Amino acid sequence: MKAEIRVNRHFTVGQIDRRIYGSFIEHLGRAVYGGIYEPGHTTADDQGFRRDVLELVKKLQIPIVRYPGGNFVSGYNWEDGTGDKAKRPRKMELAWQVVETNQVGIDEFQEWAKRAGAQVMMAVNLGTRGPEEARNCLEYCNSTLDTHYANLRRQNGFPEPFDIKVWCLGNEMDGPWQIGSKTAEEYGRVAAETAKIMKWVDPSIELVACGSSNYDMLTFGDWELTVLDHTYDYVDYLSLHQYYGNPEDDTLEFLCKSDDMDAFIRSVAAICDAVKAKKHSDKQLNLSFDEWNVWFHSQDADAKMEKWQVAPPQLEDVYTFEDALLVGSMLMTLQNHCDRVKIACLAQLVNVIAPIMTENGGSAWVQTIFYPFLYASTYGRGSTLRSIVSCDSFTAGKYRDAAYLVSSAVYNEETQEIVIFAVNRSLTEDMELDIVPENFGRCRVLEQVELYHEDLKAVNRKDQEAVSPRSVPVGEGKITLKKHSWNMIRLKTGM
Ligand code: AHR
Repeated sequence: MKAEIRVNRHFTVGQIDRRIYGSFIEHLGRAVYGGIYEPGHTTADDQGFRRDVLELVKKLQIPIVRYPGGNFVSGYNWEDGTGDKAKRPRKMELAWQVVETNQVGIDEFQEWAKRAGAQVMMAVNLGTRGPEEARNCLEYCNSTLDTHYANLRRQNGFPEPFDIKVWCLGNEMDGPWQIGSKTAEEYGRVAAETAKIMKWVDPSIELVACGSSNYDMLTFGDWELTVLDHTYDYVDYLSLHQYYGNPEDDTLEFLCKSDDMDAFIRSVAAICDAVKAKKHSDKQLNLSFDEWNVWFHSQDADAKMEKWQVAPPQLEDVYTFEDALLVGSMLMTLQNHCDRVKIACLAQLVNVIAPIMTENGGSAWVQTIFYPFLYASTYGRGSTLRSIVSCDSFTAGKYRDAAYLVSSAVYNEETQEIVIFAVNRSLTEDMELDIVPENFGRCRVLEQVELYHEDLKAVNRKDQEAVSPRSVPVGEGKITLKKHSWNMIRLKTGM
């Protein structure tokens, strides 16, 4: 099979905001306890953070990490995670039906994020709480005044503000599973009022309003319209969340789900623009795709989980090679929408539907999905080029005319490189790829990295890395994308 990608130096989608390579740590399962934090671990640092995990996180160069939830945040009292650890309450955590010890809270997490080289993206509880607690939390984190909550932070050992710039106004408030879920009208009003006063406390922050919990919600569309009708003038981003699975074991259809993500982004951008038009506003609302991933492998095990344990192994999906192909394709979708999607968070980061896994008291290793993320985050910096792609197409389930080639093209002005990310979705045929860069001078392929395994269900486990990238020798000839493979091709321009 043959395919072509044509790009032109003058035709760009926009500059990639590095925050699209963000991730997420929720107080859920072993993400925090046994994941990023384990004081007795042989690699624990002075604050009890696992250094082996930090090293893997740092490789991913994650610019921003959402915290503390997720569903967890809708029943959370942020004060429980501050001050003297010995006095912190053990609580019934209703979202995931576990016991929360509160040994980690914002006091510790902001320090972990610093060590990981990331900003914190903080969520406030609009489930059981409201504007009052949100503004207190913001004052605690960011204020430099001589006022109660800023002084409390100082008493707790933090003279300098945490300076958290991005705040989520609740989480998935449309979902019936959410603690304190709301109608669009109820949420829109409380989100607008919370946003208004949070910006009075700190005008430098950016706010994210909750969009629908996923594209399939029955209230999708109406929810966005109503919420934005109330919040448009006060917020900076609308959130999107989406997880995909392959429970029917139909790989071709599963691999098409990045096309669904593409349609979802286009729809939400269109809704934002409709509200903008209706309000005669000059402001463009951008998107925060702050939960995305594959999630389905662990669902049966989780349904059988005994309740009220401390940090049990919840949502521990073991990712296959085909999951990595979809995650790689979803990253390309995010890059191709960089004009609207300014923040995105791979959900999540450690142990919970995560690229990084650990054993309590043992080692840490990386899952298959770690690799496409690593390369996108490392090399997908610069501006996305508008690609004209020619290739064959196929039909799988509801997906008609799906292209065999999924791709994105990023131009990095600093390194003068074009970086192509590409997945060949054919399960049977290799693809001969022609890359045609226009107005870039003479170009030379520097490197091709490939993620491939004959077995679509191959997985990585502790001490057994079945799926890892390899360098493909580059010559003068055409580029070959193996059947069902993920690839990154770097071209030096202006030779
Ligand atoms: O990431 C796991 C969960 O998925 C989050 O807590 C919630 O926001 C979503 O439903």
